Amino acid sequence: MNIAVLASGNGSNLQAIIAALKAKKIKATLKVVFSDKADAYALTRAEKAGVPVVAHLSAKDFSSREAFDAAVVALLKKEKVELVVLAGYMRILSPVFIKAFADRILNIHPALLPAFKGAHAIADALHYGAKITGVTVHLVDEEVDHGPIVAQAAVLIKPNDTFETLSSRIHKVEHELYPKTIDAFVRGKFKVVGRVVTKVG
Ligand code: GAR
Repeated sequence: MNIAVLASGNGSNLQAIIAALKAKKIKATLKVVFSDKADAYALTRAEKAGVPVVAHLSAKDFSSREAFDAAVVALLKKEKVELVVLAGYMRILSPVFIKAFADRILNIHPALLPAFKGAHAIADALHYGAKITGVTVHLVDEEVDHGPIVAQAAVLIKPNDTFETLSSRIHKVEHELYPKTIDAFVRGKFKVVGRVVTKVG
């Protein structure tokens, strides 16, 4: 299966996915890495790893969110991408994108959804005084941080945690959970009925 990773920033999840692909722990081909940010370190990681298509488009060059997404979809379709993996891609996908890859877009979120949606989930959990947070991998639908949950893992918040210490434990869990879940998804090991995703085998 051809996959694409979309990332806006550092790309540590992308790196974990690349490592898992190399180790054949994900049975797929990474065809495209795309970013909406020209300076995303994820693009450098992709180039270093020899990903065939490493691309960037800037939203400010398009008249609307839909026009931007249509251009990204065209790029992915051209490369025959079958599964889109969001890894720190900090844009809300428009219906144009969601419909083009219905039930074929995964996202990772650094909290146990539906708690702490949004772009500051780790800081939000810490400031809220939560004792447990974690990581969610979910299918992407038209609402933010909302689609059916594919996998979750809990991370305990310690009394003396700072943003940095908690982030570092969460990222560690992400780097294990995401490649594993992508591989299971690629192998068709999940059945989706409404909101409920069940592992089959
Ligand atoms: C990850 O922690 C991911 O869960 C988060 O962005 C980070 C990207 O890190 N995504 C969201 O908050 C989405 N709402 P990375 O660029 O090092 O992979």
